Amino acid sequence: MESIQVWSPAKLNLVLRVLGRRPDGYHELVLLNTAVDLYDRVEMARSSGTGLRVECAHPGVPAGPDNLAARAAEVFFQECPDLRTGLSIKIEKHVPVAGGLGGGSGNAAAVLWGLPRLLGAKISNARLMELGAELGSDVPFFLFESPAWATGRGERLHRAEGDFPDYFVVVKFPFGLSTAEVFGEWDRRHGRSGGNSEEDQGYLTNSSNNSTLGALRGRSAIPLPRDWNNDLGPVASSLHGEIGEVLDSLLGAGAEHAQVSGSGPTAFGVFQDEAKAFRAREEVGRTPGLEARLCRSLRGPVLKQAS
Ligand code: C5P
Repeated sequence: MESIQVWSPAKLNLVLRVLGRRPDGYHELVLLNTAVDLYDRVEMARSSGTGLRVECAHPGVPAGPDNLAARAAEVFFQECPDLRTGLSIKIEKHVPVAGGLGGGSGNAAAVLWGLPRLLGAKISNARLMELGAELGSDVPFFLFESPAWATGRGERLHRAEGDFPDYFVVVKFPFGLSTAEVFGEWDRRHGRSGGNSEEDQGYLTNSSNNSTLGALRGRSAIPLPRDWNNDLGPVASSLHGEIGEVLDSLLGAGAEHAQVSGSGPTAFGVFQDEAKAFRAREEVGRTPGLEARLCRSLRGPVLKQAS
């Protein structure tokens, strides 16, 4: 095989709890993630020599060695040095960049997943997930399955049992947000103790948040949409007032629940009913500057080969 193409989907955080700041500067999190059918396409092709090339037409995505997909290839070749080859990676972007949808992490995971298949390497998925965690906190999720709970800084995963509505209206803003900046703002608001205050510990033992507590203990029921929550949502909304307006519009258009994904700014509303979701997409998408898409959640393996 000379080349392989992989669909690299977006993820939404249905739950994002920040438990506190860690000594290493990262934050201890409890996440519930689902992948949705909004895809980038990542193509990997062998080339002569040993050079690594990354191409992406999107102006917000770095080309060359700084691209997370290039770093993923480098990490893979360090793990499997006998398989080192010239490689050209092409990324066709559809997932909003700097949007809180894990697009760059998904592309890196697609490279870690695709290269063993392209080059015939024998490497376990567990090892690929370890390599992925070195690249970014969200990368292992894309090598796991959807939906999933994630703990630690986002890299420790386990299966999420149960069901939730299928339809998501995902709203893209004409600006991005830096994850590091949003976590920095969260730190400023919560002081040195981070989220480890008695109040926050109380949240975790409160019966309405049993799912979060269960996730921490390795149990896994998916909460009802009304109990989904993103602690970074208020931070993102305070940086850009438009986000709150879009959440209100999604609720006004009949969403069961609406929130920001990850560190934002992308917002989503969840719907049981496809026709209602379709109408909401039309309604919210009329606002100039916003792009609204109707997405379905993915159940099972996150990455798959594009034919
Ligand atoms: O892991 P990743 O490189 O994707 O994270 C980007 C930035 O987001 C980190 O540099 C850090 O500032 C912040 N972050 C965090 N705690 C996490 C995950 C990310 O503070 N659990």
